[in-house]
Amino acid sequence: MCGIIGYTGSANAIPKITKGLSVLEYRGYDSVGIAARTELGVKTVKCKGRIGALEERLTQQKLSESQCAIGHTRWATHGGPSDTNAHPHRAGRVVLVHNGIIENYKELKEMLSRAKVSFLSETDTEVAAAVLNAAYDACNDPLTAIRTATAQMTGSYAFGILFDDHPGEVWAIRSGSPLILAKGEDGFYLASDMTALLPFTREYHILKEGEIARLTATEAALCGAADAWCSPTWSITSMTPESAQKSGFEHFMLKEIHEQPEAIVKSVSPRIKNGLPSFEADGISSDFWKQVKNIQIVACGSATHAGLVGGSVLERVAKVPAASYIASEYRYHPPIAVDGTLVVVISQSGETADTLAALRYAKSAGLPTLAIVNAVETTIAREADYRVYTYAGPEIAVATTKGYCTQVSVLYMIAAAIAHACGRISDEEARELVRSVAEDAPTAITEMLEKTETLREMSKRLAQKDHVFYIGRGLDYAMSQEAALKLKEISYIHAEAYAAGELKHGTISLIEQDTPVLAISTEEALYDKTESNVREVRSRGAYVILICRQDARDPGHSADEVILLPTKSEAATLFASLTAVQLLAYETAALRGCDIDRPRNLAKSVTVE
Ligand code: AGP
Repeated sequence: MCGIIGYTGSANAIPKITKGLSVLEYRGYDSVGIAARTELGVKTVKCKGRIGALEERLTQQKLSESQCAIGHTRWATHGGPSDTNAHPHRAGRVVLVHNGIIENYKELKEMLSRAKVSFLSETDTEVAAAVLNAAYDACNDPLTAIRTATAQMTGSYAFGILFDDHPGEVWAIRSGSPLILAKGEDGFYLASDMTALLPFTREYHILKEGEIARLTATEAALCGAADAWCSPTWSITSMTPESAQKSGFEHFMLKEIHEQPEAIVKSVSPRIKNGLPSFEADGISSDFWKQVKNIQIVACGSATHAGLVGGSVLERVAKVPAASYIASEYRYHPPIAVDGTLVVVISQSGETADTLAALRYAKSAGLPTLAIVNAVETTIAREADYRVYTYAGPEIAVATTKGYCTQVSVLYMIAAAIAHACGRISDEEARELVRSVAEDAPTAITEMLEKTETLREMSKRLAQKDHVFYIGRGLDYAMSQEAALKLKEISYIHAEAYAAGELKHGTISLIEQDTPVLAISTEEALYDKTESNVREVRSRGAYVILICRQDARDPGHSADEVILLPTKSEAATLFASLTAVQLLAYETAALRGCDIDRPRNLAKSVTVE
């Protein structure tokens, strides 16, 4: 959840590092720093705050030129945001930046303190630097020191390292946290992810677990477990600098909401063969789907909510039990290995520590695993037995939209694939389901986007409130949970989702005059029951915004405002309701002047447990 970047080469490193850090801020932004090689040695400038604060410090401290530097933007874990706790951290002849958590840092700190090592900060990272420096003092060799030091650490790390007496060299190693190398025209880079380097190059190499990298101005070298040095294999990313920019939108989140129609088409089309669902391109045969008798869906946050929606579709369409689990809870469940169980983990970033831990737990229990991931070649994608990528492209806003949307679209396709492989739906029914996701969903989203002004007006009702409730039944209850999370994480309004039938069992006591209640009611069979819940809350003063199908019976009768949805197919209705709640959250947060792309306290990829 922190951002790391490094550069060594013939160009000036300082502007490269600061530009890269500004892109990486979405990974964490409560403090920031840079360590740069100068003729007087490695100089460190760091501070609480964002990249603008660092640039002021760099000017004050006259650090404007260097050809070798590392930088870091932080999401605090150990020790609050402060100048002292900001990275980089120095210990002796070593300066490093870190993404991850050293879980045994207290024991290491006690051991070093007994050896009279003193510490300035509260961070686990400074301890890691001290461990590395102690190993370096004992051998005076960076490679040996890195191996010795990391062998003492448990937890997750991606390190960028400078050694005082190795000018021009940047060293790196990772375990459990992402780190990539990149080759530019004027030198070599390392970074937490590719978006930071798109302004400079598109050639990258994903550092493998435990692999050590040494970068100089003219060479990148890798050292694996056998201590044999080799050169990286460079790949060309499909991302472009534009794809990491806002393309004229005020926020990345709004851009990414508008990208959803295209993202669905990109995610679904590779899984259609002659109009039928096919995952052969993902290395998954229809025989594989025939063996699936039980699905455990495991994820965090919005990905969990996608799993709730997808699980409902899997159970109704594929007739397969599909329970959803919060990843941080799943790993404490005794593994229930029902024959034919498939564990499906969902992650936009592919690096979420809780989801990765749950994946490893499922694998240790001997369960087959399938990952639905957006960021390619990430740890979760690589470690799962099977992977199905959502081709949504880079998602920069902390609040996921197209990531979630494409996860649901892929789950629809998996449900169709299982149902068709098992003969539970005909070719014609399978083609209709595929068509509805591939065609109706993008169209429905586009049509809802055209209602943005109406939704902006509605959001005025929410923007002044401290509490908002979302209610729904079945699929709509699952959608309510994503709707509530979107609103609270970017507008800071307390928003909760409730099963509509549950309100009378306690929650309804919270309803006061003008309390906003958004009732999502797209399931025809449940419409009347949800309408009675709407009447319950309205009779107690609630202001109800009803999100329902355009053919619903007299929707205005029981609501203060209505958002009408297309009825061409379930997929059309569902993805339109998703777009509506995303836009309501966005417009509400905009009215409240919130930092929509980088909400307080959050990070895009939570790579700590
Ligand atoms: C959603 O808007 C949040 N950013 C968060 O809940 C996120 O979905 C969760 O942290 C999981 O992230 P992942 O999909 O990258 O694993």
